[in-house]
This record gives sequence, C-alpha cells and structure tokens, in this order.
Amino acid sequence: MGVSHSKIILIGEHSVVYGYPAIAIPLKNITVKCRIEKSKNEFMYNEKDTLSTAVYTALKYLKKPKEKIKYIIDSEIPTKRGMGSSAAVSIAAIRAIFEYFNEKLEDKLLEELVNEAEIVAHSKPSGLDAKTCLSDKAVKFERNIGFSNIDLDLNAYLIIADTGIYGNTKEAVQKVADLGEKAKPMLENLGKLALEIEKYINQKNIIEIGKRLSLAHEELKKLGVSIEKSDMLVEEALKNEAVGAKMSGGGLGGCIIALVQDYENAEVIAEKLKEKGAVNIWIEKI
Ligand code: PMV
Repeated sequence: MGVSHSKIILIGEHSVVYGYPAIAIPLKNITVKCRIEKSKNEFMYNEKDTLSTAVYTALKYLKKPKEKIKYIIDSEIPTKRGMGSSAAVSIAAIRAIFEYFNEKLEDKLLEELVNEAEIVAHSKPSGLDAKTCLSDKAVKFERNIGFSNIDLDLNAYLIIADTGIYGNTKEAVQKVADLGEKAKPMLENLGKLALEIEKYINQKNIIEIGKRLSLAHEELKKLGVSIEKSDMLVEEALKNEAVGAKMSGGGLGGCIIALVQDYENAEVIAEKLKEKGAVNIWIEKI
C-alpha cells in the first residue's frame, strides 16, 4: 500500500508561469491510497492513464515491467480541481510498487519517478504539485530559482470548497497568454501579492494575508480565469467573515479557498458554501 496527500495553491497561480513566486500548501488530511495485488495477468501499460504510467515508471525502474500485478486505488482527491490528484496518485502508486517488492525508496528517487510519470501525463509540469504532495510543509516555487519550504503554523484554517466543475489549466494558461501585454499589470500585481503574503506568513498576520488573497482573486478575475460559481462562493465566504478568499489553481472551474481565523467560524462558512452549491468542503488547519 502507498499513500499520498493532496495540495492546493495559496497564491501565485498563472503569475508563476511568468516567473513570479507561487506558494502551495500540502493538504495532509486529503489523501489517496494505492494497493498493489498479485494478478493472474501481466501488467498492461496504458500510456493515456496517469496511474498506469506511474505504475509502469516504477516497474521499469525496478526492471520488472511485465510483473503479474494489479492496482486498486482509493482516492479522496477529486480530479481536475487543482488539488494535485495526478501527482498524488503517482506518488501513492510508486510507493506501493516499491513496497510490494520490498525495495527501498529514497525521497529523491520518488520525486524523480513522479516527475517522469507527470511528464508523460502532463507534458510540462513545473514540479510544484509533486513537491507539495511530497512535503509536510508549504512550498514556494519560482521558475529559474526552484523550490523552498515555508513554515506556516498560522493557527488558522483554510476552507477548500469544490465548485464541482472541472478546471481546465491548459485552456486557462492559454487564455492568459492570449491576453499578451494586457495581462502584464495583473500578473505583476499577483507577483507582488505573493511576496507580501510570504512576508505576512512569516509575521503570522492572518488579516493581512487574507486581504491579499481576496485581492488576488480580483486579479485572476481580470485575467478571465475565474468562473461565476467560484466568484459566488468567494463572495459568500467573505460575507460570512472569512478574512480572505480566492479561486485556486488553473481555474475555469476547480476549487476556491477561504482563510478563517477560528474553527467554529470555518464550520459556519463551510455550511453556507454547501448551501450555495459547493459539492465538497474540507477544512485544513494551517
Ligand atoms: O490547477 P493547478 O493546481 O494544476 O495549477 C495550475 C497553476 C498554473 O499557474 C495556472 C499553471 C502552472 O503550470 O503553473
């Protein structure tokens, strides 16, 4: 059996493509499990399938590409919602394969194999999903600079609310690219907000972080990557005293996040968001 958790982007989606920083958070309580079992038949690789690709990547590394095994997946992570489901599934599957064959798996090798599988599944992953799904800490990412960890420990709560609508990262990234020069001010503002949020994380200033999450949502709206349902859920969270809220991930669907100071308030907001049509809600202490 192999397990992995999911992730969500706190700040910096889209602007990260243009070199600005992004911060992603591990969601340690939202997990996927993969179990490997003996099978009568040889493993058949389907390169169009993320899970099959991850299993094959691990088997190939172990020089057992035709082993008689099958895999069973049990996931709490919805797909195409910006929660890193494909990276998480790959991590769980690779861990499970190594465990099945009693092989030692160092973190570095696991990350390499996950990224190899992600390249087949996604062509050009930044590696942020894999890094965050493998990490217990928040991860900052900047193109050409790389990854670093951030200690959160904010004593606050992040609500993740699923619109129930598939996001489409590829289309959203293209939409921003098509804006050309017009996207520049929004991307610059998002970059600035990401740096400020990092500063306020260090100062544990929830209110200032929250304000900037909401401002980031406005910039993402201007880029045309939010949808009506995300906007409506963000508004509902703010109306009910979340300190900040925004869409998260590539957009055109997917999830919104809302920052809240105490758990009771988070539960109230979660209920309101459900009433407004969120199909799934998680509350994560950060
Ligand atoms: O939807 P997600 O969580 O995979 O995030 C996409 C983030 C973008 O910045 C929009 C794209 C990217 O490659 O960084």
